[in-house]
Amino acid sequence: MDEPVEAGQPFPLVGRGAELDDLDRLLAATTVREGTVVLLEGEAGIGRTRLVEALAHGADVLDVDLVVLPFPGPTAAQVDGLLDGPAPHPRAVVLDDVHLADDACLDVLTRYAHAGPVPGMLLVLTERPVPHRDAVQRMVVAWVRAGARNVELRPLTPAATVELAEQLVGHPVGPLLRGVLSTAGGNPRLVTAVVQAARHAGALRRREDGVVDLHGVDWQDELDDAARAHLADLDPDVLVLLSQAAVLGPSFVVPDLAALAAQPLTDCWRTLRHALAAGIVAARGDRLVFRHDLVRTALYAGLDEGTRRRLHIRAASTLGEAGAPSHVVAGHLERAQAAGPA
Ligand SMILES: Nc1ncnc2c1ncn2[C@@H]1O[C@H](COP(=O)(O)OP(=O)(O)OP(=O)(O)O)[C@@H](O)[C@H]1O
Ligand SMILES: [Mg+2]
Repeated sequence: MDEPVEAGQPFPLVGRGAELDDLDRLLAATTVREGTVVLLEGEAGIGRTRLVEALAHGADVLDVDLVVLPFPGPTAAQVDGLLDGPAPHPRAVVLDDVHLADDACLDVLTRYAHAGPVPGMLLVLTERPVPHRDAVQRMVVAWVRAGARNVELRPLTPAATVELAEQLVGHPVGPLLRGVLSTAGGNPRLVTAVVQAARHAGALRRREDGVVDLHGVDWQDELDDAARAHLADLDPDVLVLLSQAAVLGPSFVVPDLAALAAQPLTDCWRTLRHALAAGIVAARGDRLVFRHDLVRTALYAGLDEGTRRRLHIRAASTLGEAGAPSHVVAGHLERAQAAGPA
């Protein structure tokens, strides 16, 4: 009989070889007194912290002092003390999540930006692109002017996604689980959450051939909870608009969403900018696409039946007027009915 699956062993960094090589090269440059500043950006859970933690190995080998300070927490005096150069010994300072630094710390960082990189020091500033704060933007702009390198952590490739899942599960994974993993948009935290949710719900089974796959257990609620956690830091108006967009499908045209939400197009775009910056949706020409279908499904599931019904009815008329094919319009009317009475 199939066996249930327990947690896999601790696993190495997956799919970030190129980024780690780049950082290791900059780490090595500190030993010849070069100074560099890197702005490491990426959506929530994309693996910024995990990547900078992996610098420890190179720092050890190269005998570079490595300090990693996660925000919030460090004081302005601490930051000042660390950046005060020139570094007597090659040094790497990682300030993780600088978007959470207080204004006094940001002021110190901005002041150092005006002086430029410190010889013999690699400074890595990691940040999420949203929410925007003026003081954070000022600090980032100052470092960009000082020649900081921008490194954007991109989603894991499909192959790296499966590799990560296999590390977590400890076995090869089958097609059903791969299908769900592909809705995580290459986000390692969401990939991890999918595996954990499946395991928690008892939805993973090891087949006789050693492959682990899903079997008939309903674990949608666990999956939705995992996806909702990904949205925790977004403003309520962004969430409301995204939930409405979820009714339109995996991708949508912004004027259609504005009509559905009964908002002027410019207001709709203003709100969507935050969702774009947070990496929840991506622009593909004149339409927007949900980056992780897992998240879209959870947003949709979070709508109460009455709202879902109303939105599908409105979507049917909006899309019908905009010239969408009749089967699309009919599909919305069917889902309005499936949602039950308002
Ligand atoms: N390349 C990777 N290989 C294996 N696991 C990874 C990788 N990147 C991230 N993870 C795992 O995914 C989860 C999220 O990663 P991490 O905390 O580094 O993301 P983050 O970008 O720092 O998130 P936040 O926006 O919350 O600061 C962690 O459990 C981490 O161990
Ligand atoms: Mg982090």
